[in-house]
Amino acid sequence: MSISLVGRIAYLTSDFVVDALPPAPGTSVFAETYAALSKTSTHKPKIISSPPGADDGLTVLRNPSKLTSLTAVASAQRLAQLLLHLEEISSLPVVIHLAIQDDLSDALLLRSGIPFFLLSTNAQRAHDNALVAAKLARTESKAVVHAFYMTSSTSPLEEVSEEQIHSFLRLPNTSFPSAPNGKIEHSPDLPNGFTDGTSVDNHVSETPVDLFEAYKSAALDTTVLVKRQLSPFVSHGPAEPLTVVLIFGQDDFVCSLEYVLFISVSLATPHPPSLISGIIPRSAKRVIVLEQVFRWHSKWTPLYIDTVTALQQRIAEDEIVVQSGLLGISTHITASDILNAFHQSTAVPSPRLQLGVVPISTSSSHSLPHIPKHEAAYTKILDHLFQDRLEIANGPELVTSLGPIATTPEFALGRVRGLFDSRGELVKSIQVLLQQSSIGELHSLLSKWVLAKDDAMKSKSLGDAIVKSLKSAPITHSAAERILSLSEFFPSRSRWIIGSDAWSYDLGSSGLHHAIASGLDINILILDTLSYSSRKSGDPHRRKQDVGLYAMNHGDVYVASVAAFSSYSQVLQAIIEADRYKGPSVVLAYLPYYDEGASALEILKETKLAVDSGYWPLYRWDPSKEKAGKEPFSLDSDAIKNELKQFLDRQNHFSQLILSTPQLATELVSNLGQTIKEARKKRAEESYNTLLSSLNAPPILVLYASDGGAAEKKAKRLASRAKIRGLSTTITTMDSYTLESIAQEECVVFVTSTAGQGEPPQNGRNFFKAVNAAIAKGDTIFQKMRYSVFGMGDSHYWPRPEDAHYYNKPGKDLDARLEKLGAERIASLGLGDDQDADGPETGYKLWEPLLWKALKVDSIEITEAEPEPITNEHIKAASSYLRGTIVEGLQDFDTGALAPSDTQLTKFHGIYQQDDRDIRDWRQAEGVEPAYSFMIRVRMPGGVCKPHQWLQMDQIADEHGSGTFKITTRQTFQFHGVIKKHLKPAIQDINRVLLDTLAACGDVNRWVYFSWLRETDV
Ligand SMILES: Cc1cc2nc3c(=O)[nH]c(=O)nc-3n(C[C@H](O)[C@H](O)[C@H](O)COP(=O)(O)O)c2cc1C
Repeated sequence: MSISLVGRIAYLTSDFVVDALPPAPGTSVFAETYAALSKTSTHKPKIISSPPGADDGLTVLRNPSKLTSLTAVASAQRLAQLLLHLEEISSLPVVIHLAIQDDLSDALLLRSGIPFFLLSTNAQRAHDNALVAAKLARTESKAVVHAFYMTSSTSPLEEVSEEQIHSFLRLPNTSFPSAPNGKIEHSPDLPNGFTDGTSVDNHVSETPVDLFEAYKSAALDTTVLVKRQLSPFVSHGPAEPLTVVLIFGQDDFVCSLEYVLFISVSLATPHPPSLISGIIPRSAKRVIVLEQVFRWHSKWTPLYIDTVTALQQRIAEDEIVVQSGLLGISTHITASDILNAFHQSTAVPSPRLQLGVVPISTSSSHSLPHIPKHEAAYTKILDHLFQDRLEIANGPELVTSLGPIATTPEFALGRVRGLFDSRGELVKSIQVLLQQSSIGELHSLLSKWVLAKDDAMKSKSLGDAIVKSLKSAPITHSAAERILSLSEFFPSRSRWIIGSDAWSYDLGSSGLHHAIASGLDINILILDTLSYSSRKSGDPHRRKQDVGLYAMNHGDVYVASVAAFSSYSQVLQAIIEADRYKGPSVVLAYLPYYDEGASALEILKETKLAVDSGYWPLYRWDPSKEKAGKEPFSLDSDAIKNELKQFLDRQNHFSQLILSTPQLATELVSNLGQTIKEARKKRAEESYNTLLSSLNAPPILVLYASDGGAAEKKAKRLASRAKIRGLSTTITTMDSYTLESIAQEECVVFVTSTAGQGEPPQNGRNFFKAVNAAIAKGDTIFQKMRYSVFGMGDSHYWPRPEDAHYYNKPGKDLDARLEKLGAERIASLGLGDDQDADGPETGYKLWEPLLWKALKVDSIEITEAEPEPITNEHIKAASSYLRGTIVEGLQDFDTGALAPSDTQLTKFHGIYQQDDRDIRDWRQAEGVEPAYSFMIRVRMPGGVCKPHQWLQMDQIADEHGSGTFKITTRQTFQFHGVIKKHLKPAIQDINRVLLDTLAACGDVNRWVYFSWLRETDV
């Protein structure tokens, strides 16, 4: 029943339908519905029946349409094929309807690669969700998986009419309709928005919150049409439960238990964390996540991981326990079964909670006697994807027949060689038999097999047919006998050697080198279990042997680096690509754990640290793509991808500009600002008198660049010491001067600290750009000038050896470039290092005497004057009416922070810059900046909040902050966790309801006053 309902919606909503046929003798379960509709409906989509073994993903990609539906009965083999194209399909209007028997494991293979995953557990819901899916795919131009159970129903079901469906899917503007999220929809006339043969790149990276909003809107539209509530979570039970049971699967049982809330989940993706934490009432002490996944690859199932992630804080604070459970066939489950299961799961050690009958899996043909528990995360993926094609050449089951040596990878390589030789013999014998004239029909079978011998499906079915034919009509020829004796080699197998990183470490004698260099079609899975934290506590600077790099150097080896607990879909993609690659493949798989007792959360955390920091990059290198003219390397780690992009953008931007348009560079340089020149002129006049009074001493100009104030302080102290020595001294920031003005100076001392990744601080950036531009032009403008540079940095700020060049980079660069521009160095470069015993002062003490010596004032003894303390009022007065460089800081996406000089200023705007203390230490150890975010405090006169203002506050917290906001004793609201990108829109949204944040922090007038007289009394 659900099949015909879903099939009908797929047919009526799509322009193109791919119906995936099961292996013979099975027939398509959707075919009957499509055949009936083709006679009765006016709508005529193009329908393709896709045979078993065909590449459904490619068929979808080759036939762009306004809406494509792929209908199939979920099976691992079918969906594994599709995985390879998920990245492309995910941003197309495609609905994948998957009929489920009783297990969601296969369908869930697609979950992490597709933006939306809906689940229907009854026929009526399947009908309604099919409409939601079509609406979502159509309006968002994104793929939707709709998994539904093959059920029938005795109660009457309601279907919407064909006319209703057509008007439901009609988009607001038929020429170039605009989707709700503001993106351009595909043109109806041009398939899939292709205008000139190229696709419209409408890919915008969206957060789970954006995607969830899109789902809500499509579900709401469908609710209006079908007049039935379509909620992603349906719950029954008390409002203040002690236990919450989250159910993902077919929940036929209806039980009411005191203190137990049952929540059925029908939306598996997107799951913004706030969504899950929002549905678990605060009263709950235990959450049980029941999932109907009988053949899942690891202990931690998808919804369980989502739930643990969403409730992390409550778990850490011991408020709640989250348990994972298996939902079996649920038809006869009673309340007492549930209570029993609960009871058993509280025992110590607790068995995995299980409800209902779990069918014994028939698909797994390889039982592995001992695999360390966590490593099954990968071996089960192999098992699941390749099933009876899988051959682990060093599988533990071989030990019984071949002895303990059978598990060593060296042995495996020898064994694989033997297997390949045997298959080669089979091929030879077949070729011999093909020369024989009187073999009749067998000839065609044999030649077909030779052509399809590397095809996973065909090689097996043709092999079976050949054996059957040879057995039923024996041929008296030695080649025929040989073929029968080698019949086990007919199917094309997926051959894997599994080893640990310890084995791979010794490239030469472990056999790994031989496997890589063998040219054989073999796959090597190397599991690296060294946890990121323990690597750090060893020698963090020592890089491990990079097997991936080594293998890539061979040029003909497929290499992937994966982490199941970071990106499951990337693991699947890599394993399938490795299997397909004709030649050696190496898959480096990360699985950090100390011992078998490690918890899900620990492994997840360790993996996240390693992947986000770049210690374990996720990538795939496929040399076959290079031959096809495509890029062979794909970097799959989002975190490093973004960092790399920003870094390259930053580095490239200016040098590209200078190279491509030299005159533009000159303009940029000369544009440094009229105002600066004017300021310089004024300052020159001011210092005229001082100059006169110290005519005998050479004047010096101290220019500094500083973000946090340390270099500024040093420069100011230097200037005051210079004055005491009788030197006429001027001090200011580097950006206050043009190069031309500096070129007029006789003696300039530069003090600069280091910001970002070896970059100059904010108030010296224009000066540095100008110097670079002058170098690019080959200028020698500083011929009159004498100089010395003192640089300040931290030699451990970027601790990796390969990042050592960032240490004190601006100081070093400046020192070398000034010389190139013609200036004369009077004292060699001084370097202050935060790591030195006395901090930067250590280096400073060595450098300063050199300077005095060069200026011939070294004999004067001084007593140092402390600089005047800087108060808030000084800061405000110097900030250009609280502007500072906040605007520039907001536009600088290289860092999540504002310039340190602005962080005091933003307080007067009601904004505090903060960073996540919990992860401060490890981020520092990683050489990444702290995780910055902002707290915003609203100014709310009299503490009176109107309803529409309250609603806006609520929305701001969801869209821009941590999802919650605080009501403070200052009678106002506070938002937390607002990242820099969201700062401006958040303030704009506050202003929109006529509130602001001015003076809400850091100022004396942040207190809220109001009259004790009530409005009515006044
Ligand atoms: C965000 C940030 C990035 C930094 N990057 C570097 C760097 O790449 N190389 C380096 O040698 N020091 C680096 N440092 C260290 C500073 O240059 C050093 O602490 C200096 O004393 C700060 O001076 P300032 O307060 O005048 O900015 C960095 C410091 C910060 C806060």
